[in-house]
Amino acid sequence: MSKNILVTGGAGYIGSHTVLQLLLGGYNVVIIDNLVNSSEIALDRVKQLASDLSHNLSFIKADLRDKEALDKLFSSTKFDAVIHFAGLKSVAESVQKPELYYDNNVTGTNNLLEVMSVHGCKMLVFSSSATVYGWPEKVPCTEEFPLSPTNPYGQTKRDIEDRCRDVQRLDGEWKIILLRYFNPVGAHPSGDIGEDPRGIPNNLMPYVQQVAVGRRPHLTMYGSDYNTKDGTGVRDYIHVVDLADGHIAALKKLFDTDIGCEVYNLGTGKGTTVLEMVTAFEKTSGKKIPLVMAGRRSGDVEVVYASTEKAELELNWKAKYGIEKMCRDQWNWASKNPYGYYSADDKE
Ligand code: NAD
Ligand code: WQD
Repeated sequence: MSKNILVTGGAGYIGSHTVLQLLLGGYNVVIIDNLVNSSEIALDRVKQLASDLSHNLSFIKADLRDKEALDKLFSSTKFDAVIHFAGLKSVAESVQKPELYYDNNVTGTNNLLEVMSVHGCKMLVFSSSATVYGWPEKVPCTEEFPLSPTNPYGQTKRDIEDRCRDVQRLDGEWKIILLRYFNPVGAHPSGDIGEDPRGIPNNLMPYVQQVAVGRRPHLTMYGSDYNTKDGTGVRDYIHVVDLADGHIAALKKLFDTDIGCEVYNLGTGKGTTVLEMVTAFEKTSGKKIPLVMAGRRSGDVEVVYASTEKAELELNWKAKYGIEKMCRDQWNWASKNPYGYYSADDKE
């Protein structure tokens, strides 16, 4: 019998790629998403890519803060596990509206955990973030590093991690995997699904992509005086399809072992500077990305990359793709969909 997986936030960037891998892996998937930062068109595309397996996908439009809707969903379907992506993710917005972030991310997750418990579904994979490491004392970051998020968004991730540890400690029937993603980029190789941020992108690669298709005149490069090989910040970029596969590996771990509550980094273990990333994108796309140098962005850290040993050893998962493939797939998605899931008229 195929397993039933509930995917919260499954219409979003990482969620849509993971849902596709789940369908292709033979799982039944139900998505719950309020579409606050996503489009149902992404789900139509996922269905096309999943072809015959698309009938194993259904979608409920609801907010995780609506406990009744959650309860109704769990009463109608018996889920074997939940992958929990739903959340707001803009660092800058979280500084302006911290209450919104606590309400949406923390209250939403508390509701989910409570309803799961009531209905006896006690297996969870949660989307945490490398942002919980703050400015690490050294690299690579291992899972035991102290957590010191520097913004409300990161604080919500730490709070939820703590809550998950508590829930599992108080009720040993729970099995929970906390995944700390580094910097997800790229898109499905088909170019049919990818990241489509609303408004001005905060993150590097969505911004670069919009410059490449002519929607923005230049990239502002934040900081060229870091203590790195070319002065720009270093990050661990990971292909979104590798990341999606990491979730399948985590699910298998939940189903096959008595894991308790464990945390894993999902990264490549390799650090890349902003300049290296932009140069790689220019090379694969053939597009020039005009740069405007600026000072450091407030809250940015110098160098962050993952130790990948624990995930490799215990989840039997390792990222396969390098930055050239990330840039190629990002450009394929961008050139096929310059305005994301919409048209120029809808967006500008
Ligand atoms: P995304 O915004 O594309 O996807 C999140 C989805 O959750 C969206 O479809 C949104 O509509 C939905 N959502 C938000 N709040 C909701 C609510 N209250 N109820 C129902 N649905 C809700 O973001 P993403 O990049 O796919 O990220 C997925 C998860 O991974 C998030 O939790 C994010 O914090 C985490 N994460 C992302 C990154 C990154 O750089 N993309 C890095 C580390 C961690
Ligand atoms: C990468 C590098 C910037 C934009 C953020 C969140 C983190 C996680 C991933 C969710 C940095 C530089 C960027 C631009 C630039 N998300 N940059 N010009 O800051 O590592 O992490 O996204 O959990 O929580 O904090 O990613 O893509 O924003 O920046 O020069 O227009 O690119 O300064 O060095 P970051 P990013």
